[in-house]
Amino acid sequence: MLAVVPTPVTVRAPAKVNLHLAVGDLRADGYHDLTTLFQSLSLTDEVTVAVADEPGLEVHGEGADAVPTDSSNLVWKAARALAAHVGRDPDDTKLRIAINKGIPVAGGMAGGSADAAATLVALANLWRLEIGRDELATVAAEVGSDVPFVLQGGLALGTGRGEQLVPVLSRHTYHWVMALDSGGLSTPEVFRELDRLRAEGNPPRVGAVEPVLEALASGDPNQLALLLGNDLQAAAVSLRPGLRRTLRAGVNAGALAGIVSGSGPTCAFLCSDGDAAVRVAAELSGAGVCRTVRVAQGPVAGARVITGDDSA
Ligand code: C5P
Repeated sequence: MLAVVPTPVTVRAPAKVNLHLAVGDLRADGYHDLTTLFQSLSLTDEVTVAVADEPGLEVHGEGADAVPTDSSNLVWKAARALAAHVGRDPDDTKLRIAINKGIPVAGGMAGGSADAAATLVALANLWRLEIGRDELATVAAEVGSDVPFVLQGGLALGTGRGEQLVPVLSRHTYHWVMALDSGGLSTPEVFRELDRLRAEGNPPRVGAVEPVLEALASGDPNQLALLLGNDLQAAAVSLRPGLRRTLRAGVNAGALAGIVSGSGPTCAFLCSDGDAAVRVAAELSGAGVCRTVRVAQGPVAGARVITGDDSA
């Protein structure tokens, strides 16, 4: 009898920006307690997973050269975690994975987490698993703190390491310009820098999250702009002082406000509408403060199948 080889599955997963990122103290397990508001963005990665005799990983697109293709890539961690969860041999996954990157690498936008979330959804489909989104989110949390959010997408309040999510109703679309830096920043290093700055002095802390939720409910980007905040910004700027200039240039170009996205170094500029975003992007790209710019909007859907057999 001929074995039936399943059709490769392609999944698209979004980037994220933290509209509010309050970092608590360092925990005994090396993580920090967070209170954060995640919004998914229309910058996306696509991951295609196929069953193959020769396992392998290839990466194309935005910043592909900087992505590891060995077993340290988060897509393999995701594949192993899901295999173990459903009782398959984690070391015998026989997969070929291709990543097409649209999300900046090590940019503070959860690009690696998006690839991991996409891999989980692709494998659930490829292996025809009877697994609900909640169960998949449990596996996602083992893979990384941001993976459950990019799996879910939309707008959500995250606590714990950022993996405990409550969806937030969202009826409004927000328009962003993202300024991509020429290099990446390591997330653990940025958290360590924040610990160091806090041991030395008293870097500013973001306020309460409730007013941000109210501003989001109003749908007025001007209100939201006043409340965007990120505790990791001081640490990212301390490690990459040029970001100060980038943040200023975005506002000078007409953005309502700018923040460092997550652990950086990508800067996110909120704009009043889509046309304003295009104008800000054009002006910012000529200001010589970043490698390139992208216009994006959010929230968008989480990781979802775009080709292959979606009946599973
Ligand atoms: O969960 P993930 O592997 O993506 O986290 C990467 C690193 O970021 C952690 O090892 C830790 O240094 C830091 N981190 C943290 N607190 C969090 C999330 C991440 O300190 N809540």
